Amino acid sequence: MSIIVTGAAGHVGRLVTEQLLERLPPEELVLVTRRPHALEELGARGADVRYGNFDDPATLDGAFAGGDRLLLISTDDMGRRVRQHDAAIRAAAAAGVGRVVFTSHVHPEAANPLGAMAREVGETEERLQRSGLEWTVLRFGSFAELQIPPAATAAMNGRLVTNMGDGRIVPVSRQDCAEAAAITLTTDGHTGQTYEITGSQAFSAPDLAELYADVSGQPVKVVQLSDMVLTSVLVSLGTPWRAALDITAFGRAIRRGFFDVVDPAFERLTGRPPVAARDVLIAHHGNLLAVG
Ligand SMILES: NC(=O)c1ccc[n+]([C@@H]2O[C@H](COP(=O)([O-])OP(=O)(O)OC[C@H]3O[C@@H](n4cnc5c(N)ncnc54)[C@H](OP(=O)(O)O)[C@@H]3O)[C@@H](O)[C@H]2O)c1
Repeated sequence: MSIIVTGAAGHVGRLVTEQLLERLPPEELVLVTRRPHALEELGARGADVRYGNFDDPATLDGAFAGGDRLLLISTDDMGRRVRQHDAAIRAAAAAGVGRVVFTSHVHPEAANPLGAMAREVGETEERLQRSGLEWTVLRFGSFAELQIPPAATAAMNGRLVTNMGDGRIVPVSRQDCAEAAAITLTTDGHTGQTYEITGSQAFSAPDLAELYADVSGQPVKVVQLSDMVLTSVLVSLGTPWRAALDITAFGRAIRRGFFDVVDPAFERLTGRPPVAARDVLIAHHGNLLAVG
């Protein structure tokens, strides 16, 4: 069996690759990336590293040739992703790939305040389902690693400044997302399935403040702001306007319940509970201290 991983040099791509190497001989692994030089070590271990760029569909014919299953990792190029993912889906169909597993996001609907970040993967899901290919969708919750910068800032300032209101977020580690992907790629019974890959604990703002205080050893209290005031504060602190709007949209999405998804799919796939957000932060304790 030949398994292709796109975006193989990204965070999730590298973690999935390690997971696949525990399950398959390296010769069965095709790693597609725009940065083959970054994966030289995996090439030396026997994996087939190929250049592929969704912005240049002609590169995908060779990149996907001979693949049986393909992991389509959503790109980070907001605003261009539907076209990019569509190019990958078309190339997979042309290359005769048997099944495509796509990394999506919980609540990828147009109403999600995340905007393009959610909408583009939702639209990709629809295109994949209409493609005639066998498909599996993994809707990831918010990566637990994304809690590190706010935890460090909160530890430094003694305050978690947020617009998330009474909403809750369910962090999941990238490592767990990667393991779920490796399992769905290497085992059967997942065709036509959409799995929500989430952590097992939903955190309110006071829960997050308690978590940040616990792992940093610094007291943290919650300060709730309106969307408009938070955006203004961020801009006044030097955050670029676009980034300030994205951060505010993230809090609004939490407040409106778009991140409050706890699903047993991960435990059903792996037979173990997801790694706790606390353990992810503790593993990065040095980063918290460095900023705090
Ligand atoms: N659930 C969440 O909390 C969350 C948060 C942030 C992002 N995401 C999504 O999850 C994805 C994976 O996360 P990550 O942490 O691994 O992100 P990352 O390290 O920033 O990786 C970005 C990925 O996009 C790929 N990419 C970008 N442009 C591409 C192109 N033109 N053609 C082919 N591939 C392209 C990169 O592939 P190469 O560099 O190898 O070519 C890389 O795999 C992100 O790209 C984003 O869509 C999810």
